[in-house]
Amino acid sequence: MPQREKLNVQSPVYASALLRLPWSRPLAQWGADLLAALPRGISRHTVRLVRSEGLVLAVKEIGAHAAWHEYRTLRRLRRLDVPCVEPVAVIAQRRDADGEELTPCLVTEHLRYSLPYRDVFSRELDADTVSKLVRALAVLLVRLHLLNFYWGDVSLSNTLFRRDADQFSAYLVDAETGEFHEPLSRGRRLQDVELARVNIIGELMDLQAGGLLDPGVDVIALGTTVEGIYADLWELVVGELEVEGDAFDAVAERVGRINELGFDVGEAEIEQEGDVTHVRFEPAVFSTGFHRRKLKALTGLDVQDRQAQRLLGEMEAYRAVRYGGRLPLADVAHRWMVKEYEPVVSLVPEPLWGKLEPAQIFHEILDHRWFLTEQKGGFVPLARAAESYFRAVLPGRPDEEVVYLPRRRDAGGLKPDGGARDET
Ligand SMILES: Nc1ncnc2c1ncn2[C@@H]1O[C@H](COP(=O)(O)OP(=O)(O)O)[C@@H](O)[C@H]1O
Ligand SMILES: [Mg+2]
Repeated sequence: MPQREKLNVQSPVYASALLRLPWSRPLAQWGADLLAALPRGISRHTVRLVRSEGLVLAVKEIGAHAAWHEYRTLRRLRRLDVPCVEPVAVIAQRRDADGEELTPCLVTEHLRYSLPYRDVFSRELDADTVSKLVRALAVLLVRLHLLNFYWGDVSLSNTLFRRDADQFSAYLVDAETGEFHEPLSRGRRLQDVELARVNIIGELMDLQAGGLLDPGVDVIALGTTVEGIYADLWELVVGELEVEGDAFDAVAERVGRINELGFDVGEAEIEQEGDVTHVRFEPAVFSTGFHRRKLKALTGLDVQDRQAQRLLGEMEAYRAVRYGGRLPLADVAHRWMVKEYEPVVSLVPEPLWGKLEPAQIFHEILDHRWFLTEQKGGFVPLARAAESYFRAVLPGRPDEEVVYLPRRRDAGGLKPDGGARDET
């Protein structure tokens, strides 16, 4: 019987990469030459990370109904600016050489620089890192709930993490059980939080059993922190603020804390009752990545939110020192890019190109400069700090770059051409 698979592709950019893949063979039998040696988390279905035409794709064998549901859900989440993986295609009507039906596949684009939680540290995770991961997951959950999205399978395994300055940002990877509910009830939200708690505890117990997490860590207590973190975040973002007297500082402080989390504030409803002011922020107008969008508008760089915050801080300092704060930030941004950011990033020695995202390297160089300044007791120029960092720090870091995608050069990465590592 002639082959007649059906490829539904989101964008023709991916078509040739997809056509080169051996859809008439079960995914588990795909050759090692196709596989990208990148860390992959635990999964129920067969999932493989494959390379084709310079792209890295994640392929998951899953029933047709579920594949379509997940594909559409991810598309909708992407349109809402949610940090999640990008859906590429559903491959249906697969048959093998004997005409036997094969399971359909959902294809997503591999999320660059992402790490499954088990791979965030090369040897053992510590309690501090785990709590950063839990916090990042809680922020993601708040973001999803603000958009009326019920995840239904919240766990560390269904999340990917990217380094974001000294924290992590979380991306949704598995949307199979997710649904939009308009409106999303409190009961549903708390159901997600409870699922998160139970799953995180199970996953941490697993890590301990495998010797990947210090046995002294109280995993039940640590997993349970997700509840409190979520509740605090939710209250901060949607809770009513009540201030006696002059409300200006309190409102500015609240907005600052919300921005810190990467959320934006569009509108506020303010009611005055005698000396007391009630302020309510409209959840519908919150969106993601306050600093990220600001940096992107100023420079075209698209990086993680805390990285963006750090770069904006550095840009402000540059503006104060060079121009006495007189020029508007928009005018300074270009000069700062050309004179500070780009020269440093372009100095990354070639053998170290695969280590970390450029914006993360820049962030670490700023930390390193601080460390050198403390040590030497005097000002250390950025170029000197960069050189010392490239020599003493970066070579010790594991490779986290995935692959260079030649067609999709983003402004955040002055990236060389190169391939993924081979499967080991
Ligand atoms: N687009 C992607 N980018 C990076 N990793 C991915 C991607 N898609 C899947 N993975 C990896 O594969 C794992 C399993 O994917 P998932 O969708 O959770 O499968 P399952 O539905 O079987 O649980 C994830 O934890 C992640 O590590
Ligand atoms: Mg999963």
